[in-house]
Amino acid sequence: MKKLNVALVGLGFGGAFAGIYKEHPDVGELTLFDTDSAKAQRVAEHIGGAKIAGSFEEILADPSVDAVHLVTPIPMHADQTVRVLDAGKHCACTVPMATSLEDIQRIVDAKRRSGKNYMMMETTLYTYQFFYASEMKREGKFGKIQFFRGSHYQDMANWPSYWMGLPPMWYGTHAIAPMVAFSDSRICRVNCFGSGTMEPWLREQYGNPFPVESALFEFESGMKGEATRSLFECARVYQEGMFVYGSNACFEWGFGDGSDPYVTVYQQAVEGKRGGRSVVNVTPMPNYHESLPQEIQHFTVGGKFDPLNPQESLKKGIFTEILYHAQFSCALYF
Ligand SMILES: NC(=O)c1ccc[n+]([C@@H]2O[C@H](COP(=O)([O-])OP(=O)(O)OC[C@H]3O[C@@H](n4cnc5c(N)ncnc54)[C@H](O)[C@@H]3O)[C@@H](O)[C@H]2O)c1
Repeated sequence: MKKLNVALVGLGFGGAFAGIYKEHPDVGELTLFDTDSAKAQRVAEHIGGAKIAGSFEEILADPSVDAVHLVTPIPMHADQTVRVLDAGKHCACTVPMATSLEDIQRIVDAKRRSGKNYMMMETTLYTYQFFYASEMKREGKFGKIQFFRGSHYQDMANWPSYWMGLPPMWYGTHAIAPMVAFSDSRICRVNCFGSGTMEPWLREQYGNPFPVESALFEFESGMKGEATRSLFECARVYQEGMFVYGSNACFEWGFGDGSDPYVTVYQQAVEGKRGGRSVVNVTPMPNYHESLPQEIQHFTVGGKFDPLNPQESLKKGIFTEILYHAQFSCALYF
């Protein structure tokens, strides 16, 4: 199989993927670009060398580049995606895909026109928690799945200016995508409410008054789900959560992203006793490093990786970094 030449554009959060592409056995040449050229230089040095492009246009015009991964600020995603696809290259873009229905339609049209692959790089579907809950589903442990919940609480104080006052559901993907994947269905109806109040200066950029938004979804299958998202002035600790409620078992994300999830197993009510018994197990997540090419398995932990003892390595690692690295390596589909 021909190796893919990949260009990585935007090297803030995006910088974390440079090493993964560099070591991925299916990737040929890696090109880096950031409008901050010193940052591109630093990232290239950190991974032991990569080609650095002088502009975005240079990448689009380079026939040797097969695929572009965009990790640039949110307001640029739609335009840059359309330009990558129209240049005849595969495009992966970090979340959110776009922030208006018109821009989403433009991307769908560009994808069809180009015949190239597009992927919105949703990360929650590559977490240990999602893998574990999917395994429970495959093994029928949930019984009948009755309800879903999703959450993403994050405080965006002091983040770059384009975040200030962003309507929470414009970046609802981490809270919603796991439910959609789990439902084997599609959302057909939604009721979303904004809640709370924000400082006046936070309302200026997008005209959004709400720090928190919460939505109830109906799936085509008839299932229902709920997702809540907060970005400002809400003290809740960080959580990108997925919650699955079944007749025999439930999966609930840990209280914070560094804590282990809760797996509840239901024991049927016995004759003469009111209600069944629910046994809650705080469950450490296994490392699913085997699903990755060997060369990049070590990115699944923040510290040293011992292939003979991945679970032990996992405990020593930096949990959030692990997730992102693992997720994106798995997402290298194109
Ligand atoms: N889990 C996730 O999926 C996840 C996590 C973090 C961030 N993100 C997404 O990743 C994106 C980047 O996040 P961030 O925190 O690094 O943002 P940031 O604004 O801090 O950094 C963006 C980087 O892109 C560069 N840049 C700006 N304009 C550019 C252009 N025209 N061409 C090339 N480079 C350009 C900047 O110099 C900077 O290095 C955001 O869209 C965010 O939504 C996703």
